Formats: sequence, structure tokens, C-alpha cells
Amino acid sequence: MRVLLTGGAGYIGSHTAIELLARGHSVDIVDNLSNGNAEAVRRIRRLSDRTVGFYQMDLNDESELARVLGEGEFDACVHMAGHKSVAESVADPIEYYRNNIGSTLTLMRGLQEHGVRKFVFSSSATVYGDASKSPLTEENPTGVGITNPYGQSKFMIEQILRDVARADTEMRIAVLRYFNPVGAHESGELGEDPRGMPNNLLPYVSQVAIGRRDYVSVFGSGYPTPDGTGVRDYIHVVDLAMGHVAALEQLAPGLDSFNLGTGTGTSVLELIDAFAHACGREIPYRVVGPRTGDVAESVASVDKARRILQWAASRTVKDACIDSWRWQSNNPNGFPSTGS
Ligand code: WQD
Repeated sequence: MRVLLTGGAGYIGSHTAIELLARGHSVDIVDNLSNGNAEAVRRIRRLSDRTVGFYQMDLNDESELARVLGEGEFDACVHMAGHKSVAESVADPIEYYRNNIGSTLTLMRGLQEHGVRKFVFSSSATVYGDASKSPLTEENPTGVGITNPYGQSKFMIEQILRDVARADTEMRIAVLRYFNPVGAHESGELGEDPRGMPNNLLPYVSQVAIGRRDYVSVFGSGYPTPDGTGVRDYIHVVDLAMGHVAALEQLAPGLDSFNLGTGTGTSVLELIDAFAHACGREIPYRVVGPRTGDVAESVASVDKARRILQWAASRTVKDACIDSWRWQSNNPNGFPSTGS
């Protein structure tokens, strides 16, 4: 298939590009580089030894998008572009709704006008809100107790896509609910490169390991979990990328949602310990108060993806820590900023 990959210069997008190319699909990337990096696109080309189109543009730009879609004759779109910081979304909800929802609407209209009816969307386990019963199945109610505009924007886009699939019965849409993506490409050439202070646990731990930060703040140790710290389902980004390929290749008429996780929970302290083993260094940490909006536990039920997509994660948290450490030590300051 010829695939339009939005957000393809970002962390998950770059790994997904590699796996799509490895399966023989062709890939054109659209990214405004607000969070992605042009060097990631160069590395995708080098690692895959394939031609990869790259359009540095904003999806909200209707006429540019029409031009790209007109040139491309795409079979499918994998849509990952969007702002993703929970904290930023609380500070500037208007920007989050405008960008994430607005760009998706512009994209959907453009795809419709160009007859592209295969669509894979990056959603998040955050749509399950404050649901306290892990493992979470896809039947779990969504939209209840979501504590931030980032999560709300994912939930709202899911609703929009449902209506789009109802109105056009030829649409084939897969909604992928990511749990906690971690790890890096095993080449050490691609990985997560957060701008400024990392929002998520693993990149933070990794920056402490390399000496860019002094210690990890562990947000709370009084949760009803085995060691009192928060439990999450950390999924290796390469497994996650392969989940996209599986979803794309199995698209059925209508809309269906799938959890992409491992089915296994890991606590904050377990993750810190796994990373310390992977890098052979001590990771200093301090327990501080819980972070507002956090749930005790979030672990996926992975049965549906296994059954329908014939996909399951095969990499462990240990693998993810080893790969992240390789990426972090090869690129201590992330991607070089060499311009586009
Ligand atoms: C994991 C665990 C923290 C940082 C968020 C978004 C979600 C998705 C992924 C993506 C929790 C603890 C964290 C730190 C800590 N968004 N922690 N110290 O909160 O599960 O999910 O990221 O784009 O929508 O909500 O992930 O990595 O922030 O936290 O103790 O410095 O680590 O309390 O238990 P989270 P996370």
C-alpha cells in the first residue's frame, strides 16, 4: 500500500515508518516538525534504504494538504500527528483542541475528497479515564474521568471517527489505543527525543542515567499496588509500530478499536530497577507526592488485538531499557539539530 504517515518524523511515527517499509509498503511522511525531527526522516531513509517522501507542512493547511494528496494516490493514512503533552494541554486547552481536532477534521475531509478510505488513528489508553479495573478491555467505557484536554482530544476524535464511519460505509478505520510506549530502535539510530523536560517516566530515567538530570521523582508510593508505586503497561515502540502494520493490513469495513499493550504491568520502581540493570549505573530517585490525575494502575487486555490483528508484543521492558540506553548513549543530546 502507499501510506500517508502523519507525524512520521516523531518518536512513534519514525519507528512505524521503518516497519511499514520493512513490510513492503511505501511511505510518505507529513510532519510540521513542531516535535518531530528532520534527522529522523534521514535516518529512516538510511536504515530502510528506501525512498521516503517528506512534506514539512501543517495538517491544518488545507491547500498544501490537497496538493500532497493530489500528488500521492494514497491507499491509506496512518494519522499520528498531534500535540501530546498532558501538562501543556492543561495550560493551553484551546491550542490542543484546535490543533489535534482541527487537523484531524481537515485531514479527514481531504482524504474523503481524494477517495482514501483506509485510516489508522493513534489514540491512547487515556480514553479509559479513571477506570480502575485493569486489565482494560476495549469494551470498557471511555470518556469518563479523563483529567486533561490532551486525553479529551483523543476521546473526541474517536467519536468523530465513529460518525465518519457511520456516514460512509466504505470507510475502514482502526483506532489504536496505546498504553505506555517505551524503548528505541535496536540500531540505536531512532528513539525518543523530548524537547525540554521529559513528561514521561522512561525518558526522564534515561536522562538521569546519562547525567543530564540529578534524580527521578517517584510520584507517590501509597497506591494500592504491590510496591505502592504506579503500575503501567510499557510497550516497546517497535512492537507498537508492528501493531500499526497489522491493523493496516487487517482493516475491515467500519470502525474498530484495539488496545496496543503487552498485558503486563510494571511499577515505577521496577522500571527504574530494569533501567539501572540495562545501563549498569545507579539511578538515584526520591519519592515525592502523587501527580494530579494519575491512576494507580493501567494495564491492557490484549486478547482482541491478538485475535483479530494476529499481533502481540514480543519485547520486554528489559529489552526496551537496553534499546533506550543504546539510543541515549549514542545520542546523549538527542538528534543533532542540523536543520531540515
Ligand atoms: C508513568 C508512571 C507516573 C514521571 C501519559 C499520558 C498518556 C500517554 C502516555 C502520551 C506513572 C510515574 C512519571 C516521573 C514518576 N500520553 N512517573 N515520575 O501518566 O501513564 O501516561 O503518557 O502521549 O496519555 O497520560 O505515563 O510516563 O507520565 O508515567 O513517578 O517523573 O510513572 O506517576 O505512575 P502516564 P508517564
